[in-house]
Amino acid sequence: MIDSKYVADFRAYERSLQTGPQNERVAHCVNRLMDVLMPLVLKPTREEWDAMTAYISGLGPVHTKLVLWLVGLTQLMEEINSNIGPEATQMGVEGPFFAPGAPLRPEGASLSEDPAGADWLFLEGIVTDVAGKPLPNVTMEAWAANHKGTYSNFDLEAVPFDCRGKVVADAQGRYKLQTPYPAQYAIKGPGAQLLTAIGRQLWRPRHVHFMIDHPGFEKLIMQVCFEGDEFARIDSALAVKEEHIIPIAHHTDAAAIKARGLDKPFYTGTYDFKLQPVIQASSKAA
Ligand SMILES: [Fe+2]
Repeated sequence: MIDSKYVADFRAYERSLQTGPQNERVAHCVNRLMDVLMPLVLKPTREEWDAMTAYISGLGPVHTKLVLWLVGLTQLMEEINSNIGPEATQMGVEGPFFAPGAPLRPEGASLSEDPAGADWLFLEGIVTDVAGKPLPNVTMEAWAANHKGTYSNFDLEAVPFDCRGKVVADAQGRYKLQTPYPAQYAIKGPGAQLLTAIGRQLWRPRHVHFMIDHPGFEKLIMQVCFEGDEFARIDSALAVKEEHIIPIAHHTDAAAIKARGLDKPFYTGTYDFKLQPVIQASSKAA
């Protein structure tokens, strides 16, 4: 049985070997992490230890990012760094499925050229500052899973940049976008192993990701989810904030479908963004 004196002495010995850290912040975090972790280690078998090291070494870049998100550390980092006040649209997390380089879509155009699968989702709203003043010509980036619950950068069958695009709001700050109603999807791979081991469900609610990086305003990354989704408030990725859940309407009426020029039912939802102006360091200190 390892007692607390062994841990304390071992930690003191290890720290005594740290002379002139190259990075004091890294040294501080590693030391705090080890101080907390070592007394928590249960008596592992060699097989358990090997399984853990195989798990960690097998994560790779995407799953490492995902696991840090699933346990909430990425969200914590975003909250610590956020300069967004309570009156603005709140920050979320980027997640592992963002892909840079998505094309600019014409106003109101679909993010997808793939007609297969789900009913269309139409989202619209207005982009303002925190005082409610419309912000003209704001470019926003949107990305979503497709009707199968997969993302184009991880789906070999998907059209490149399917369900992704840059959308520009008009002179009155109004934006519109269209995408297939995204499917729910389950966390897979090492992330699913972790969630299952600790007794958390695997599914993510339907959602559309947004990123707005407008000059003079704090960068906003978040995702819009939909009221009535059974996973909206038990999201496996802990990524849904209550204010990001919006009502959604399903339109099945033939006349409404025809008026949209469609051949199948569709969904509509509205979300308005309020951007936080960047507060200069000098005025922050004042
Ligand atoms: Fe997502």
